[in-house]
Amino acid sequence: MPAALELATALQQELVDIRRDLHQHPEIAWEEVRTSGKVADYCERLGLSVQRHAAKTGVIAVLNPGKPGPVLALRADMDALPIQEENAGPCVSANPGKGHLCGHDAHTAMLLGTAKLLAQRQEQIPFPVRFIFQPAEEVTGGGAELLVKEGHLTGIAEIIGLHVNPMLPVGCLGVRAGPFMASMDRFSIDIEGVGGHGAMPHLTHDPVLAAAEIIMALQSIVSRRVDPLDPAVVSVCQVDAGSAFNVIPPRARLQGTARSLSRPVRDRLPKWIEEIAAGVAAAHGQKTRVEYVYGTPVLVNPAEHVEKISRAFRALGGSVVDTRPTMGGEDFACYLEKIPGCFAFLGAGDGTPLTAQCFHHPRFSIDERALPWGVALFLQFVCERAGISL
Ligand code: NI
Repeated sequence: MPAALELATALQQELVDIRRDLHQHPEIAWEEVRTSGKVADYCERLGLSVQRHAAKTGVIAVLNPGKPGPVLALRADMDALPIQEENAGPCVSANPGKGHLCGHDAHTAMLLGTAKLLAQRQEQIPFPVRFIFQPAEEVTGGGAELLVKEGHLTGIAEIIGLHVNPMLPVGCLGVRAGPFMASMDRFSIDIEGVGGHGAMPHLTHDPVLAAAEIIMALQSIVSRRVDPLDPAVVSVCQVDAGSAFNVIPPRARLQGTARSLSRPVRDRLPKWIEEIAAGVAAAHGQKTRVEYVYGTPVLVNPAEHVEKISRAFRALGGSVVDTRPTMGGEDFACYLEKIPGCFAFLGAGDGTPLTAQCFHHPRFSIDERALPWGVALFLQFVCERAGISL
């Protein structure tokens, strides 16, 4: 077994214990107080230089802070989701309505394990390694954006992040150069009509009918405006109108998400949404107000860094697959807008066929044998960069 994987595998039990402890005590975005406390304490015990409360509830820990740069950064996100876990067993969420159902507990455990193994080799590593324990990945305007604003990327030459993925088997890394994850924006459309009695629609300007037509018409953005070779999503996910079965309400509100894998498409989505909403509403004698909020940008992996991380993973005996991009978003994109690096999916499937029980599902789960693979990859990557053998 390659040395990095052997060292990481020896940590398996500790990694599992950390991950399960976090899993049982999930904290959602901006509330990662217990989690970040545990992380900071652990890093201090390793002798790292630790900054608590980075981006409110995040932790930055640095190995070799006094050595000259360039800095290598490794990132884990720590937040859970406001979803009730439906898994069974002794290690499920003890916090009602909250659950680690995207695997960020695993990310945190893997980065702590990596910090431990690197701290033992501190003298051999000639550059600083910055461990970014990021809060609030799951919300718009989240932890990555705030860490960037607070200046925590200063001096970093390269940043690496992993996300566990149960759709890939353990021992497999899914990654691709170029656009890899989608931009993730939100929009709302307020439709202003004239309400009245449900029996006398001719005396109203029914915003529910206008809303229904707007929902349908918005689908023409992807089918008729965006180049068929450019991926895009426009989904209306929330519809609010009315308070009684026999009253036509005066207004309606639609909310949704707009995604793309390229900047030019993304830049045009707000205009198209506005145009269609206003045009359809006007046909019904009504007005609309569209709010479009830019969220996470497109995550783009530079080819050179994909090559490096792939080489490191193959050195562990793992397999690397060229993974299709996803229309899911990830705020690691905020880092890659500023500095080079790579974001990849770490196989965490147990070999059972793919089900819908994936990210953000109440029964999301991972195979914990993935944990040492993540640690070994980080370790191998750092050692290759430092030119040291284990
Ligand atoms: Ni996630």
